[in-house]
Amino acid sequence: MKSDDIVVCRCEEITLDEIRLWIDRGYGRFDELKRILRVGMGPCQGRGCRDIILRELSRSTGEPVESISPGTIRPPVKPVKLGLLIHGEGETSC
Ligand code: FES
Repeated sequence: MKSDDIVVCRCEEITLDEIRLWIDRGYGRFDELKRILRVGMGPCQGRGCRDIILRELSRSTGEPVESISPGTIRPPVKPVKLGLLIHGEGETSC
């Protein structure tokens, strides 16, 4: 399978080839890739692609993946029903 066939971010339909292209262009941080490609900004908020992209950044920089910033994570970190935000727990009538 070629790297241009491998979809890394399913929410934004970004392939491994695109990730590697922008890393080669100097976008060496997750937040930079997020701004240019919208990775991590889909409905899953990066739960489906963040770890893969961090590993790719680690591979290209030679830094351990633990030392690479996971980028800015803003709440809510997972989808929340509006009714829960309005009424609190126990009522989900919206
Ligand atoms: S898979 Fe990348 S934001 Fe969902």
